Amino acid sequence: MLSKSLFHAAVAVALASSAGWATAQSSEPIKVGLMLPSSGTFAELGKGVADGFKLYVDEQGGKLGGRAVQYIALDDESDPSKANENANKLVKRDKVDVLIGTIHSGVAATMAKVARETNTLLIVPNAGAGEITGAMCAPNVFRSSFSNWQPGYAAGLLAGKKHKTAVTISWKYAAGDESVKGFREGFEKSGGKVLKDLNLPFPGVEFQPLLAELATIKPEAAYAFVAGAGQVKFVKDYAAAGLKNSIPLYGAFLTEGTLTAQGEAAAGLQTTLHYADGLKNPKNDKFIAAYTKAYGAAPNVFGVQGYDAAQMYDVGLKAVKGDTKKKAEIYKAIENAKIDSPRGPLAFSKSHNPVQDFYVRVARGNQNVMTDTIVKGLVDPSRDCKL
Ligand code: PHB
Repeated sequence: MLSKSLFHAAVAVALASSAGWATAQSSEPIKVGLMLPSSGTFAELGKGVADGFKLYVDEQGGKLGGRAVQYIALDDESDPSKANENANKLVKRDKVDVLIGTIHSGVAATMAKVARETNTLLIVPNAGAGEITGAMCAPNVFRSSFSNWQPGYAAGLLAGKKHKTAVTISWKYAAGDESVKGFREGFEKSGGKVLKDLNLPFPGVEFQPLLAELATIKPEAAYAFVAGAGQVKFVKDYAAAGLKNSIPLYGAFLTEGTLTAQGEAAAGLQTTLHYADGLKNPKNDKFIAAYTKAYGAAPNVFGVQGYDAAQMYDVGLKAVKGDTKKKAEIYKAIENAKIDSPRGPLAFSKSHNPVQDFYVRVARGNQNVMTDTIVKGLVDPSRDCKL
């Protein structure tokens, strides 16, 4: 038995050392693991996400939740076969406090697995793989972007307003398959019928045989999911094959961030996303000005998704005054966050996927100009998420 005074002394020592430890802890920077592609077909998308994230942190004086930020960046090469090793390097070797990544659905699905195994916070700033907020959903896994189903579904609703038949063209991997599935659901809901799904391996750009087959099927419309650098060649090949006027082409990301490179071939193309050029709200006005000042070019959806990933983490960290050990509290705060996003108000479904509006955009010059809202507050069905 400790005497009363000894007990008090012991408590005092314990309190002093834990307070000292907390101070030492919070003076250390927050380690942010940026697992994004900086090479390959998605390199520009990865840069947009990283730039957006860093812009928000810079606006907070280089801090998140009151603590300085240290970045540990890794090129994931959009290569699923390297994803397990890369994510584990960041978590186990570099001991990051949060994983931010990535663009490619297959790589991100593996990141979600590692995040679950190690109870590390993961915020996915692009990849739409359904399982991340579906069967693999978890308290510590969030998305600042979209599920592949969402923009595909919105495009299906749009195309279905004018056309009765369509053919899809996509890269054969999770994002392509799920985007096409979303399109089919929206298109059928509007009374249309998808006649055939054509595809090629990621990140291939041999589109000619598929375009030739499309021309022989002669549907009323086409929907395509190819992305990044691949979409530049696709849109040019589509126009060069003489299909642009005979079979109207729809997409989601198809013209995002690439209009300068696509030129005339993209003019007039209609796409559906959760962001658009000319979107008017006070947050977006400020965001466009700050982003353009920092990077010398206007932002696109990838910059928005990176910026919002940083906003989400900031909400979580502020709720615990920067104490990263309070993991459950951080997750709860992000789950309930109402984010003022450049895209408009951003909240999260039970499965931690954004609930958001989808806009119709038409390519004019180097802008995807907003013309309409096709669906408001769209929630991913996340049928297999048990949270
Ligand atoms: C994905 O792999 O989920 C993905 C990649 C690029 C995009 C959209 C989705 O533009």
